[in-house]
Amino acid sequence: MEVGDMDRWRQKKNGFLALGLVLLVVAVTGAHAWKKDEFKRCDQTIFCREYRNLDIGSSKWYVSDVNLTNGKVRARLVNEDDGEAEHGGSLILHLSAYQDGIVRVKVKEADQKKKRFEVPDVIVKELEEKRLWIQRLIEKDGASMVVLSGHEVVLLHKPFQLYVRNGKETLLSLNAKGLFHFERQREKREGENWDDTFRSHTDTRPHGPQSIGFDVSFYGADFVYGLPERATGLTLKPTKGAEIVSEPYRLFNSDIFEYIYESPFGLYGAVPVMQSHGEKRTTGFFWLNAAEMVVDVLAKEKAEEGAAEEVSRVDTHWMAESGAFDAFFFIGPGPKDVIRQYTSVTGKSIMPQFFATAYHQCRWNYKDEADVFQVDAGFDEYDMPYDVLWLDIEHTDGKKYFTWDPVLFPNPKEMQDKIAAKGRKMVTIIDPHIKRDNNYYIHKEAQSKGYYIKNKHGADFDGWCWPGSSSYLDMLNPEVRSWWADKFSYSSYQGSTPNLYIWNDMNEPSVFNGPEATMERDNIHYGGVEHRDVHNAYGYYFHMASVEGLMKRGENNDRPFVLSRSFFAGTQKVGAIWTGDNNADWDHLRVSVPMLLTLGLTGITFAGADVGGFFGNPDAELLTRWYQLGAYYPFYRGHAHLDTKRREPWLFGEPYTSLIRESLHTRYALLPYFYTLFREANVNGLPLMRPLWMEYPSDKHSFAIDDEFLLGKDILVHGVYSEKAVSEEVYFPGSQPWFDVRTGASYSGGQTVQVPVTLDSIPVYQRAGSIIPRKDRFRRSSFQMENDPYTLVIALNGTYEARGELYIDDGKSFDFEKGAYIHRLFTFADGRLTSTNLAPGNKGTKEFTTSCLVERIILLGLKSKDLSSHRVLVESSGTQVSAEIGPSLLRKGYHQTNSLVVRMPKVRISDDWSIKVL
Ligand code: GLC
Repeated sequence: MEVGDMDRWRQKKNGFLALGLVLLVVAVTGAHAWKKDEFKRCDQTIFCREYRNLDIGSSKWYVSDVNLTNGKVRARLVNEDDGEAEHGGSLILHLSAYQDGIVRVKVKEADQKKKRFEVPDVIVKELEEKRLWIQRLIEKDGASMVVLSGHEVVLLHKPFQLYVRNGKETLLSLNAKGLFHFERQREKREGENWDDTFRSHTDTRPHGPQSIGFDVSFYGADFVYGLPERATGLTLKPTKGAEIVSEPYRLFNSDIFEYIYESPFGLYGAVPVMQSHGEKRTTGFFWLNAAEMVVDVLAKEKAEEGAAEEVSRVDTHWMAESGAFDAFFFIGPGPKDVIRQYTSVTGKSIMPQFFATAYHQCRWNYKDEADVFQVDAGFDEYDMPYDVLWLDIEHTDGKKYFTWDPVLFPNPKEMQDKIAAKGRKMVTIIDPHIKRDNNYYIHKEAQSKGYYIKNKHGADFDGWCWPGSSSYLDMLNPEVRSWWADKFSYSSYQGSTPNLYIWNDMNEPSVFNGPEATMERDNIHYGGVEHRDVHNAYGYYFHMASVEGLMKRGENNDRPFVLSRSFFAGTQKVGAIWTGDNNADWDHLRVSVPMLLTLGLTGITFAGADVGGFFGNPDAELLTRWYQLGAYYPFYRGHAHLDTKRREPWLFGEPYTSLIRESLHTRYALLPYFYTLFREANVNGLPLMRPLWMEYPSDKHSFAIDDEFLLGKDILVHGVYSEKAVSEEVYFPGSQPWFDVRTGASYSGGQTVQVPVTLDSIPVYQRAGSIIPRKDRFRRSSFQMENDPYTLVIALNGTYEARGELYIDDGKSFDFEKGAYIHRLFTFADGRLTSTNLAPGNKGTKEFTTSCLVERIILLGLKSKDLSSHRVLVESSGTQVSAEIGPSLLRKGYHQTNSLVVRMPKVRISDDWSIKVL
C-alpha cells in the first residue's frame, strides 16, 4: 500500500479527527481534499492520450461489401493501410433497427482473438420483439441505404461514414469527422511491453491494446447533456477545440474522496448515453460498453471562414479502453421521445414502494438501539414525519455484513418491530467487500465455492476496504448473484424482518489500496472477463443481486428497495441511487440539481443527494435550504459523516425546526403527486425531475438553465443556493402563469423575475392549467396517511381550464402489474371539475380499491368577479356544498384572496363524478 493510499484509508476509516488538527481545519473551512494525483489524467491513460492526438479525418476504414441477411445489414470494413489480412483483417458491421426510431450498430473483428465483452443484462429482453425486419437495401453512388419508418440510414462506403437522416435533414452521424479507430487484438510483437504502470500499480494488459474510438455528431443541436456521474452543470461544455482544452468527460466508476464541484472527472457511476437538444430536434446516442470511457465534446466550428454564426451541430468523440462496439442511435424528435427510446432499450424505472418515496433519516452512524429509539421518538416529539431509519457500517459485527454488533444492537428484530409499529421501516448497509475472516460464514462459503474475483495470478483478489483485508464477490456470475440473493432470506440474514431494506455502498468497487481506489484491471471475473471490461457495470450487478435477494425473501410479494452508490445503464430497473459523499457547502447544494437532472435524462430518476451534505457541518441556514430543496428530490434522505455533529432536524432551534418541519410536511403532502410521477417513470421512463426544455423544447432560453427544474410538468422549483439570500432570479417558462404554491401569487410565463425570498421557503410554483393531488393531514409516516382524504389543487389557465392525474395502488406489492391500481384523470372546463377513469378497461386479473374521499378542492386563478359565487353543486349526487374564499394553501396563516376552497364535497377519489363550481 502506498503512503497516500494508506492515508486515504485511514481518513475514510476514522474520519477527519484521526488525521489531527490540520485536516480538521480543512474540513471546517470546507476546503477540498480531493487527491487528484490518485486518479489518472487523460495524458496518463494510453488510449486517451493517443486518441486525443488524432487528426480529424484520420480514420482509414472503408466499406468493402454490404448485404442484407435476416432483416439486418451486414457490411465489411477494411482498413486502407492493411496489407492482405494484416492484424486478423477486417471488421464486420451489423446494422439493425427497432420500432420507434432506434438504430443499432455493432462492429466486431471478423476474427476475434478473444471474444470482446458484451455487457449482459442491460438490454431488456423485449427489445428483440421490437426489431424491424429491414426489407430492402438500396445501393447508390458508393452508398447503401435502408429506409425505415420516417427515417433512413445511409452507409457511405469510402470513407466509411454512417448517417441517420430524416429526408433531407441529417439527425446523427458516425465517423463524419473521421475519428473511427478500432484496435484489433493481436499477438505481442518482439520486444513489445504491454505493461501500464500508474503509481505503484502495474496493469499487465495481457490481451494488449484493444481500444475503440469514434466520433458522433448531433445535428440541429445547441447543447448535449448526459454522461453521468460528475459534479458539473447540466450542459456538457466543450472539452476540446481551438482554445479549449480540459480533461475529457471520464466514465470510470470511482470512489472519489471529497469530490469537487465543476470537474469533468467521473464519480461513482457511469451511463454512456448522451442526449442532444436544439429548438427543433432532440436526438440521443448510447454506447453499451462498461470499460473505462472518455468523451470529448468538441467546440463548435464557425459556419464559414469569417462568418459569425455557429454550425447547429455538436460533435463528440468517444473512446473506450476495451470492450465491444454496440451503439444505439435515437432519433427523437422530442426530449421525451429520446428518453422513451433509450429506456425501451435499457428498461423503465422501477415502481418503488410508497414508503420509499417519503423521507429517510440516515447518519453514519446511529450508535445503538437506544440511539435509534431516541431519534425515532424525536421525530414524533417534534411532529415531523419520517418513514425510514438507516443503519450504516458500524451496526455490524466488525464490518461483516449480515451481522449485528452484539453489544450495540443485541435485539435487532425487536428494534425493527418497534419502529415498524408506527408504519416505519429500517435499512441496513451491505457492501460488496467481504471480510477475509475464517469465522465469517459469508467468507467461508464464498471462498470455498470460488465465488471471489481472482487476481492476475488466479488467487482470490484481496484488497482493503472498511473491514481491512477483503475479497470481492464476482457479481458478473449469475450463480454468485443467486447465492448472494439467498443470503437475504430471513433464515440466513439473522435479525432481519420484512420491514428491513438494503443499502449497497462502495460498489464501484472501492478498494482503498488499489489503483485509483478500485481493483486492478487485469483481475479476472467469471468467464475469463477482465475487470477492465466490466468495471463500470460491477456496481450494477451487485445492486441487481441484492434486489434479487429482497425479491426472493419476500413472502408478501413486496417490491424491493435497495439504494446503491454505483450505477450503470439500466440501473433504473433495479433500484435507487444517491450522489455519494457530497460536502455540506452551498456549491454542493447547487450542483445537486444538475447532477440529478442528468441522471434523469439517462433514465435513472429515483435518485437524491445527501440532504445537509455528507462531509462537514452545515449551519442551520444551509441545512434548512437543503431540506427545502430536497423535498423535491425523487429520493429524499438526510445523511452525515461519522465525525459530523449531530443534525437531526430539530436540533437547530427556531425558526429552523419549524421550517424543516414544513419542508417535510410539504413532501408528505405531495406524495400522491410524486407517486403518480413514479408511475409515469415506470411506464414511460420519464424522469420526475425535468429540465425546463423537456416540457418547453422550443424555448431556447431554457436550454442551459440548471438552477431550477420541473417536478413532473406541473411544479417549478428553484432552490436558494446562497447565504442570506434576499431574492432569486426565477425563469417562468411557457405562456401560461405560474402560481406560488404558498401564497397563490401568480407570475406570467415567458419572463425572468427577481423574486424576493426569505428563509421561510424556496421559490416553488404550480403551472396554470394543472391539477395536483395532495394529502394534507400530517401523520408520523406515509403508511398512516393511507386512508386520508385528498386535496385537489386546481390552477386555472387563461381559458379557465386545468387537468391532472392521480395514480394509486397498494403501495407495496406487484399486484399493480396485474391491474390492481386506480388511475384517475381530473379535468376542469366550463366551470366543472370532472373525475374520469384513465385505466384501461381490461387492466388484468387483480383489483385495487380505496374508499378515500376528496376533502378539499382549491381553485386558483379565478378573477375577482368569480369569487362571489359560493355555491357548488356535486352533480353526481345532486348535493350542494358551500365554497369559501380561500384560506391557506398549505401553510397556516396564509390567506389567498384569489382562491376558492370547496370543502367536503363527499366524493370518493376512485369514483366518476362531476362538480359544478361556477
Ligand atoms: C461511504 C458512503 C457513505 C457512508 C460511508 C460509511 O463513504 O458514501 O454514505 O456513510 O461510506 O459506510
